[in-house]
Amino acid sequence: MALRWRTGVAHLGPAHLALVFVASLVVSLVVFRPASTRLYNPRISALYSPPHPDSTPNRTPIHSSVVVPAYHERDNLAPLVRAVFASVRDPHATEVLVVDDNSRDGTVQEVERLRRDEGFNVELLVRTDENGLSSAVLRGFERARGNKMLVMDADLQHPPAAVQPLLDALSTSSPLALGTRYGQGVSMSKGWPLHRRIISWGARVLARPLTSASDPMTGFFAITKEQFHRSQPLNPSGFKLALELLLKSPLPAGATLPEVPYSFGLRTSGSSKLSSKVMLKYVGQLVTLYVWAWGAYFHLAVALGVTLVVAAGGRVLRLRARKMTRGKEYPLGGFHLDAGTPPLSPKAKGRSAGGGRLGGSGGGAGSGAGRLAAWSSGGGGAAGSGGAGGGSGAGQTVLERKRLV
Ligand code: GDD
Ligand code: MN
Repeated sequence: MALRWRTGVAHLGPAHLALVFVASLVVSLVVFRPASTRLYNPRISALYSPPHPDSTPNRTPIHSSVVVPAYHERDNLAPLVRAVFASVRDPHATEVLVVDDNSRDGTVQEVERLRRDEGFNVELLVRTDENGLSSAVLRGFERARGNKMLVMDADLQHPPAAVQPLLDALSTSSPLALGTRYGQGVSMSKGWPLHRRIISWGARVLARPLTSASDPMTGFFAITKEQFHRSQPLNPSGFKLALELLLKSPLPAGATLPEVPYSFGLRTSGSSKLSSKVMLKYVGQLVTLYVWAWGAYFHLAVALGVTLVVAAGGRVLRLRARKMTRGKEYPLGGFHLDAGTPPLSPKAKGRSAGGGRLGGSGGGAGSGAGRLAAWSSGGGGAAGSGGAGGGSGAGQTVLERKRLV
């Protein structure tokens, strides 16, 4: 059958494909499927968090909300808030919403100080009953009063100067806009550690078949409230909300996806929360997204991929094993058929000199078969007489090989 490969390790065929297909299905259902009750439904949130009418007299309506997830970021908040309000065109129509997960590091006092002493329109939501970056952003979206909602990190790795260009990229015909670290004219900060580059590259490659966006891993993006409310239920776990939205928030017909290049800076205060647990969550999120987007085709792709890898692995192992036995003398004095012209080992030389099983001297002058026969089966000096001896020894070679198996 065409689908059968002889690998040296196993015969791989349709049965194996089916087995891996079912295994992939079961794992995705049992391990990776987020309970539907844990998904966040923006359509429901639209009911209790509609676009803010802001009819308060004598107050400028808020057009843009900058949502900032924050965990242990107290020292970054003042520079961030000052820089954001300094860079936006209309500070009075802008709000910053910090969503903190009960850091208890003085964040509450710092935000209060920024409001009271410096007069910034900055709000704080402290959560004590849930945590995580994506879910913090979703709670921020619920609270946001602006119809344009932008997400940025608290640690100044997302440049405040790019906030206004990202907000400007939003319109009815482009209701979702992404900041990208892979655009023209921008570069990753030189000090970005190698392992972070590799992780970022790997995460991007894994998501590549799902979206053509240049930086689907970005944490710097903007979306209109209407567009957000159009989204299908979202996975609130993990770091990659933009990737969820790219897939689950279908753009209206004819809409475009603007990408605004920005340089990802270095953290100067506090530390990254990107742990190995967060990376594992990303893998889980990816699997659920693939299943969501491709359905059974995803399991088929996994089955084909695994089968091909096993087949290729089997072949490599077989080739290596063959290479290792090539040219090696067997302990009983036989020789592997692939050996070519065999070298005379000291052991064999000794046996040959003592009139042992191996006929040593004549083999070198005979034909290939003769030489082999002389090595593997010639008895004493009789078999070692050149081509003639070789010819007579051929049958015994087979016997010898049989004994060796
Ligand atoms: N409320 C809350 N709860 N905020 C959080 C949590 C959490 O559990 N975890 C992280 N944050 C906040 C941080 O305080 C920071 O403001 C922001 O989310 C990003 O977290 P970092 O810990 O600085 O993440 P990073 O720099 O490693 O990752 C960033 O870059 C990635 C691209 O490489 C994030 O922007 C990711 O979203 C992005 O994919
Ligand atoms: Mn960061």
